[in-house]
Amino acid sequence: MCGIVAYLGDKNAQPILIEGLKRLEYRGYDSAGIAVMDEGNLQLARSVGRISVLEDILEEKPTIGHLGIAHTRWATHGAATTENAHPHLDHTGKIAIVHNGIVENFATLKKWLTLSGYSFSSQTDSEVIANLISYFYHEDSFIDSSSESDSSSNSGGSINNADNSEMLTAPKGHPHRLEQAVRMALTKIVGTYGLAIICSEHPDLLITARRGSPLILGLAENQFIVASDAAAIVEHTSRAIYIGDNEMVIITPEGYRTTTIDNIPVTARVEQIEYSLEEIELAGFEHYMAKEIFEQPQTLAACLSGRLDTTEGKIHLGGIESHSRELIRARRIGIAACGTAWHAGLIGEYLFEQLAQIPTEVDYASEFRYRNPIIEDSTAQIVISQSGETSDTLAALHEAKDRGALTLGIVNSVGSTIARETDAGIYLHVGPEIGVASTKAFTGQVAVLTMLALHLARRRHMSQQNLEQYIHALKRIPEQIEAILAQSEHIRSVAQQYCSRENWLFLGRGYQFPVALEGALKLKEISYIHAEGLPAAEMKHGPIALITPEMPVVFIAPLCSQYEKALSNVEEVKARGGIIIAVATEGDQTIAQLADHVFTIPETFEELQPLLTVIPLQLLAYHAAVLRGHDVDKPRNLAKSVTVE
Ligand code: AGP
Repeated sequence: MCGIVAYLGDKNAQPILIEGLKRLEYRGYDSAGIAVMDEGNLQLARSVGRISVLEDILEEKPTIGHLGIAHTRWATHGAATTENAHPHLDHTGKIAIVHNGIVENFATLKKWLTLSGYSFSSQTDSEVIANLISYFYHEDSFIDSSSESDSSSNSGGSINNADNSEMLTAPKGHPHRLEQAVRMALTKIVGTYGLAIICSEHPDLLITARRGSPLILGLAENQFIVASDAAAIVEHTSRAIYIGDNEMVIITPEGYRTTTIDNIPVTARVEQIEYSLEEIELAGFEHYMAKEIFEQPQTLAACLSGRLDTTEGKIHLGGIESHSRELIRARRIGIAACGTAWHAGLIGEYLFEQLAQIPTEVDYASEFRYRNPIIEDSTAQIVISQSGETSDTLAALHEAKDRGALTLGIVNSVGSTIARETDAGIYLHVGPEIGVASTKAFTGQVAVLTMLALHLARRRHMSQQNLEQYIHALKRIPEQIEAILAQSEHIRSVAQQYCSRENWLFLGRGYQFPVALEGALKLKEISYIHAEGLPAAEMKHGPIALITPEMPVVFIAPLCSQYEKALSNVEEVKARGGIIIAVATEGDQTIAQLADHVFTIPETFEELQPLLTVIPLQLLAYHAAVLRGHDVDKPRNLAKSVTVE
């Protein structure tokens, strides 16, 4: 939800921190801040709005120093104000922290710290962490306030300090005391955190810790860069440590030490960051979303690469081979995801049931974990997540694991939490997706689900010949997407005609129903137009009352098994004066007679059509948002990775 960057090295921290924030701005952008240490002098700058506002402040008053922390915020507790912007200081002004996550028991902690004489200047939960560390760093005697804990906060983490003393052995003012105070404070927190902490009494010490929010340590020559996402690290080094849950890293110019929160040493594994700087650059596009829409022929080719074996007529999915037998025997498949990934999951349901004939059920991840799902040992539970860090999806994964399911992740971000915690999985390999509105990750998710369904179908009943036909058709998809992208200018002209309309409908049948949902979400989240996706047949059960000559209705109606039915639905809308924008198969004259505007896709198998029909909808949403003057890559109220529940 937020982005944090921290630096300790032989260079001036400010430019590295600011550049890093810019690469993380898609994670949250309602306020930003930086704290840099110069010897014992802690310099703080914070601002509301984009990082460029913070840059203007620093232009006037730059910071100097080799140690610093920085943060770009997506507000959870407290509005987007300067006081609520990170970094937060403790009430002595010596300790500064940046935090990504949620402190669920912050009310209890805040009340107890206030009673202990600590003052606060913000409404955030994060500021509590700064003062809690300060408490254990400065105090000699501890008040046993377990009776004070506020039962209404329905959280654990009572502040009973009786067991504190053995964890705080270092003398006050010693660097180890700060480390111990951080450990102590983290034992009191209920919730999630990705944290970076500095203190003016220790100008060569950077402490980071993580539970539930991603944190990566980049290892460069005489430099350490800590960030929420590799995008802020990759221009400095490709060597990184993915900090694990409940782990802390203590960093000094001499090196780093990784332990658990309760100080058990951890052997950190140094890994290679998989993507390069140019993959996260705009490459001449105006927006990341445009770049990611237009690079789909390449990213889909990368996703399919090495997995479609036309000589042997096989589909190779290395990430699941170790569990292939269990998968083939699965009696049921569950899918849990959020947003766009959930739409991909709905397509997966059609694919698994129609191609592999495996009963499949899709849940919103946030609903899955609370509905007491029935999971038998023959259930395979798939979680789909571009970021691999979505809290709701991670919680659904934990629920499925606790109930004994085989868990598979379909993830884009290599080394992400979900990728690490599933029993097996398949990476999208579409490269980092920076735009908040998911595009290339969606087509990657659908492609992976298609390959998995075909792989299972072949192992169960599908003939070799039939599989080979699908493989050849899949291989053609990237070039077919090119043909659709060539219609961008035409799509833009249609968007121009209707981008002022405030209510749209997206309709589709069969495989095209989830595509209708995805098209509606794309338009909603970046142009702020109210759009609804529906099964086309549902119109007559109520929504058709909405149709007026003012309302654009997008029909996704390629030649498929339900085409004739879809045509009837088009007629129903046309009869009521609705504006028909159709996504149709090249050469289909029938729908061209009915529709006001047509975007075409090349012919392919019905099961593969979502990979094509979604492209015009991505472009339609993109152009509408640009025409309405919105910041397409950073739409209001949204963030790229939703790491809060
Ligand atoms: C999609 O355009 C949205 N940005 C959002 O719905 C997103 O798909 C959802 O938050 C899930 O994210 P994930 O794939 O990283 O888990």
